[in-house]
Amino acid sequence: ALSLKELAKQTLKDNDLGGYTVPTHGLYPFQWNWDSAITALGWMKFDEPRAWQEIEILFSGQWDNGMVPHILFHKNSETYFPGPNIWGANRAIKSTSISQPPVLATAIKEMLETAKDSALATEKVTQLFNKLVEYHLWWYNDRDPQNTGLVVTYHPWESGMDNSPAWDDALHAVPCVDWEYTRRDTSHVDPSQRPHKSEYDRFLYLVDFFKRHNFDSQYIFDNCPYKMNDLGIIAILHRATKDLLILGDKLGLNDERTEYLAKRAKMTEQAIGSLWCESSNYFYCRNVLTNSLAKVKTSAGLLCVYAGLATKAQTESLNNTAQQWIEASQFSIASTHPSETCYEPQRYWRGPIWLHINWMIALGFAESGFTNTANHIQQDTRNLVLTSGYYEYFNPETGAGCGGKNFSWTAAIALHWLL
Ligand code: DGY
Repeated sequence: ALSLKELAKQTLKDNDLGGYTVPTHGLYPFQWNWDSAITALGWMKFDEPRAWQEIEILFSGQWDNGMVPHILFHKNSETYFPGPNIWGANRAIKSTSISQPPVLATAIKEMLETAKDSALATEKVTQLFNKLVEYHLWWYNDRDPQNTGLVVTYHPWESGMDNSPAWDDALHAVPCVDWEYTRRDTSHVDPSQRPHKSEYDRFLYLVDFFKRHNFDSQYIFDNCPYKMNDLGIIAILHRATKDLLILGDKLGLNDERTEYLAKRAKMTEQAIGSLWCESSNYFYCRNVLTNSLAKVKTSAGLLCVYAGLATKAQTESLNNTAQQWIEASQFSIASTHPSETCYEPQRYWRGPIWLHINWMIALGFAESGFTNTANHIQQDTRNLVLTSGYYEYFNPETGAGCGGKNFSWTAAIALHWLL
């Protein structure tokens, strides 16, 4: 049998479609944005040129306005729905019309810092830097045109946390699409581990809405029936912007555009307090259309520590919460706190553990001096992989693997962080 390390490398090689890595065959047969960023960290451990190529191919699908799409449909596949025709975004490379949590700059900074071939890494980051800057400018300008400090997201698929209970109320207010369709996901994975049809009906309404309005930023900002301040995106963007500035410093590439990004990041630091709830000591996502906090504890709230957006007192409080969270199930960190009534240990983002989120949460606590919490999360994560291998996500009660098998970002995080 292969060692866990060899198995992780083999998983990436098996999912390689020639320069980019599918998350897993069948269920997700294209290139996904944040999956690729995380997967590049895994490639970095045994094939550095291939790791850089992953990122370059992802940026080959960048839109003129700076957006890096959530999926690039490089080659046709019948195993996924909704495909490029439903999205209707026919750029040079067919893609979706939304983005995904922008962990790219953070991943690229880690890649530069850990590279054995630092000449190659420096060359690649220098080439990629301008594209990263354009991507971050797009986030702030397109998704926070009124300078509130908090970007908005237009789709649960953009958050990457598709059926998080944090979206329930906001999504419920979105109309259902009025045409029949056949899902493909539930032919690959047990439907009890996937979102419901009632959610897909609204996911598709939004996809159609963007297409009908020709991806017009201003129109969508003014009229989108779903607008969230998503803590996952806000936190991941914030950390990535700071990492981008550090890269710029190292390589002497900062200019007035990155200074502008630094100003936008400051605005986020000033605004984040409005997502903190004093009575429950937790950060929540906000439904922008109703101006109400979605008061359910999801792991996205803990990412504020990783982003450096929590004050010292908030970080202490979040550390206490995280410790209780860890104790509340056999393995941690459940994506929804196990004491919430909407917690479902096997249903995608309503309870299961996701390894890349564990990595981010642990990194945040480690950097803030809460090493016990960080170590505990890392140990649980290692035990999950030892128990079940490289699944898409894991049941916090049993450690059983759920969703797709032979999953790229799970294998990549194991290579980067555990093995
Ligand atoms: C899916 O199809 O489930 C993906 O999460 C969309 O990004």
